[in-house]
Amino acid sequence: MSNDAARINTGTLADQPEAGLPLNLHHRAIFIVGSYAVLAGLYITLSDHLLGLLIKDKNMIVTLSVYKGYAFIAVTATLLYLMLDSTFKLIRTTFSELEKKEAERRQAERLLREANESLEKTVEMRTHALQDALEEARSADRLKSAFLATMSHELRTPLNSIIGFTGILRQNLAGPLNDEQQKQLAMISKSANHLLSLINDVLDLSKIEARQLQLSIEPFDLKTSIEKVVKTFSPMLAEKQLELAVKLSLGSGMIVSDQRRIEQIMMNLLSNAVKFTEKGKVTLSATRKDDRIIVEISDTGIGIRKEDIDTLFKPFSQIENQLSRRFDGTGLGLSICKRLIDLLKGKIWVESEWNRGSCFGFELPANQDISSMKPSDHSNDS
Ligand SMILES: Nc1ncnc2c1ncn2[C@@H]1O[C@H](COP(=O)(O)OP(=O)(O)OP(=O)(O)O)[C@@H](O)[C@H]1O
Ligand SMILES: [Mg+2]
Repeated sequence: MSNDAARINTGTLADQPEAGLPLNLHHRAIFIVGSYAVLAGLYITLSDHLLGLLIKDKNMIVTLSVYKGYAFIAVTATLLYLMLDSTFKLIRTTFSELEKKEAERRQAERLLREANESLEKTVEMRTHALQDALEEARSADRLKSAFLATMSHELRTPLNSIIGFTGILRQNLAGPLNDEQQKQLAMISKSANHLLSLINDVLDLSKIEARQLQLSIEPFDLKTSIEKVVKTFSPMLAEKQLELAVKLSLGSGMIVSDQRRIEQIMMNLLSNAVKFTEKGKVTLSATRKDDRIIVEISDTGIGIRKEDIDTLFKPFSQIENQLSRRFDGTGLGLSICKRLIDLLKGKIWVESEWNRGSCFGFELPANQDISSMKPSDHSNDS
């Protein structure tokens, strides 16, 4: 039965005028007793008065009064019978109406119960179907991520060979090369390195999604890591004539976390800051606050519109603008940063103003608590 039907039946149940029936009987009883009192009073008074007017013989009046009494009893008994009979009929009708309505109410209740039961069964069935579909989707997603992780791993090996042998050729270790050959090899090397970084990004993302990425938690000096990362960008900064300011307020730079992953996050954010800034400066600041490390990388570049901020940390999301089209990139950097920071129990944020610049920041525990991580999270990653 449909819900509508159930609703209609409950409606009928609520509308039953059960309270009105006893009230009718009560009114009827008052009417009967009232009418009897008035009629009897009138009869006694008027008949005595009439007898007094018509008959002068007192004995006759007494005799007639006795018959008048019998007649009164006979008439009132008949009236009483008729009234009681009609009252009993009314009571019978009332009870049968009540019984009918009670039966209707029971029927409505039964239908409602049946509707509820069938609804519960449908909900249960749909929930099971959804759970199955979800589990299927999850396992397909894990399979996809595992496939990507394996494929990326297999692609890296030959690519590293290409990069290695190109390097050997460029160093003239296999014999002297002319300028054109050097130029061509430089292009091979650049493309191979670009492909390698792309494969590394896909590998990282798939490993994280397949929950296969393993962290390596150890004590290390964050200051040294920052110096190392900043140094990597020196040529790019010089080429674009950008100034780089580094502000450290760390006290001791020693922290316990995954050095490689923190450097990777800083590299990604710095590479974006440099890539999307044409003039002005890039600032990297690192602060220790209580037991947390806060790193912020700000730039005076193109900035990001408010409506684009939400999509930034999703994989393959690049904001369509002249600079992102002009520069390399796949739109994976920030999504990897977000996932790595989640794994390291930290948080990442961004503040940006279109055409004025952006500031990406992240915060992490200075001493990563290994015991709170899953066993697979802190062994060495291959
Ligand atoms: N500092 C920034 N200033 C302006 N836009 C930025 C900045 N950082 C990121 N974005 C925008 O966010 C998008 C996503 O960044 P993300 O680092 O994920 O990808 P990408 O740099 O384009 O490619 P990849 O990092 O994979 O090489 C960029 O394409 C760019 O549009
Ligand atoms: Mg990037």
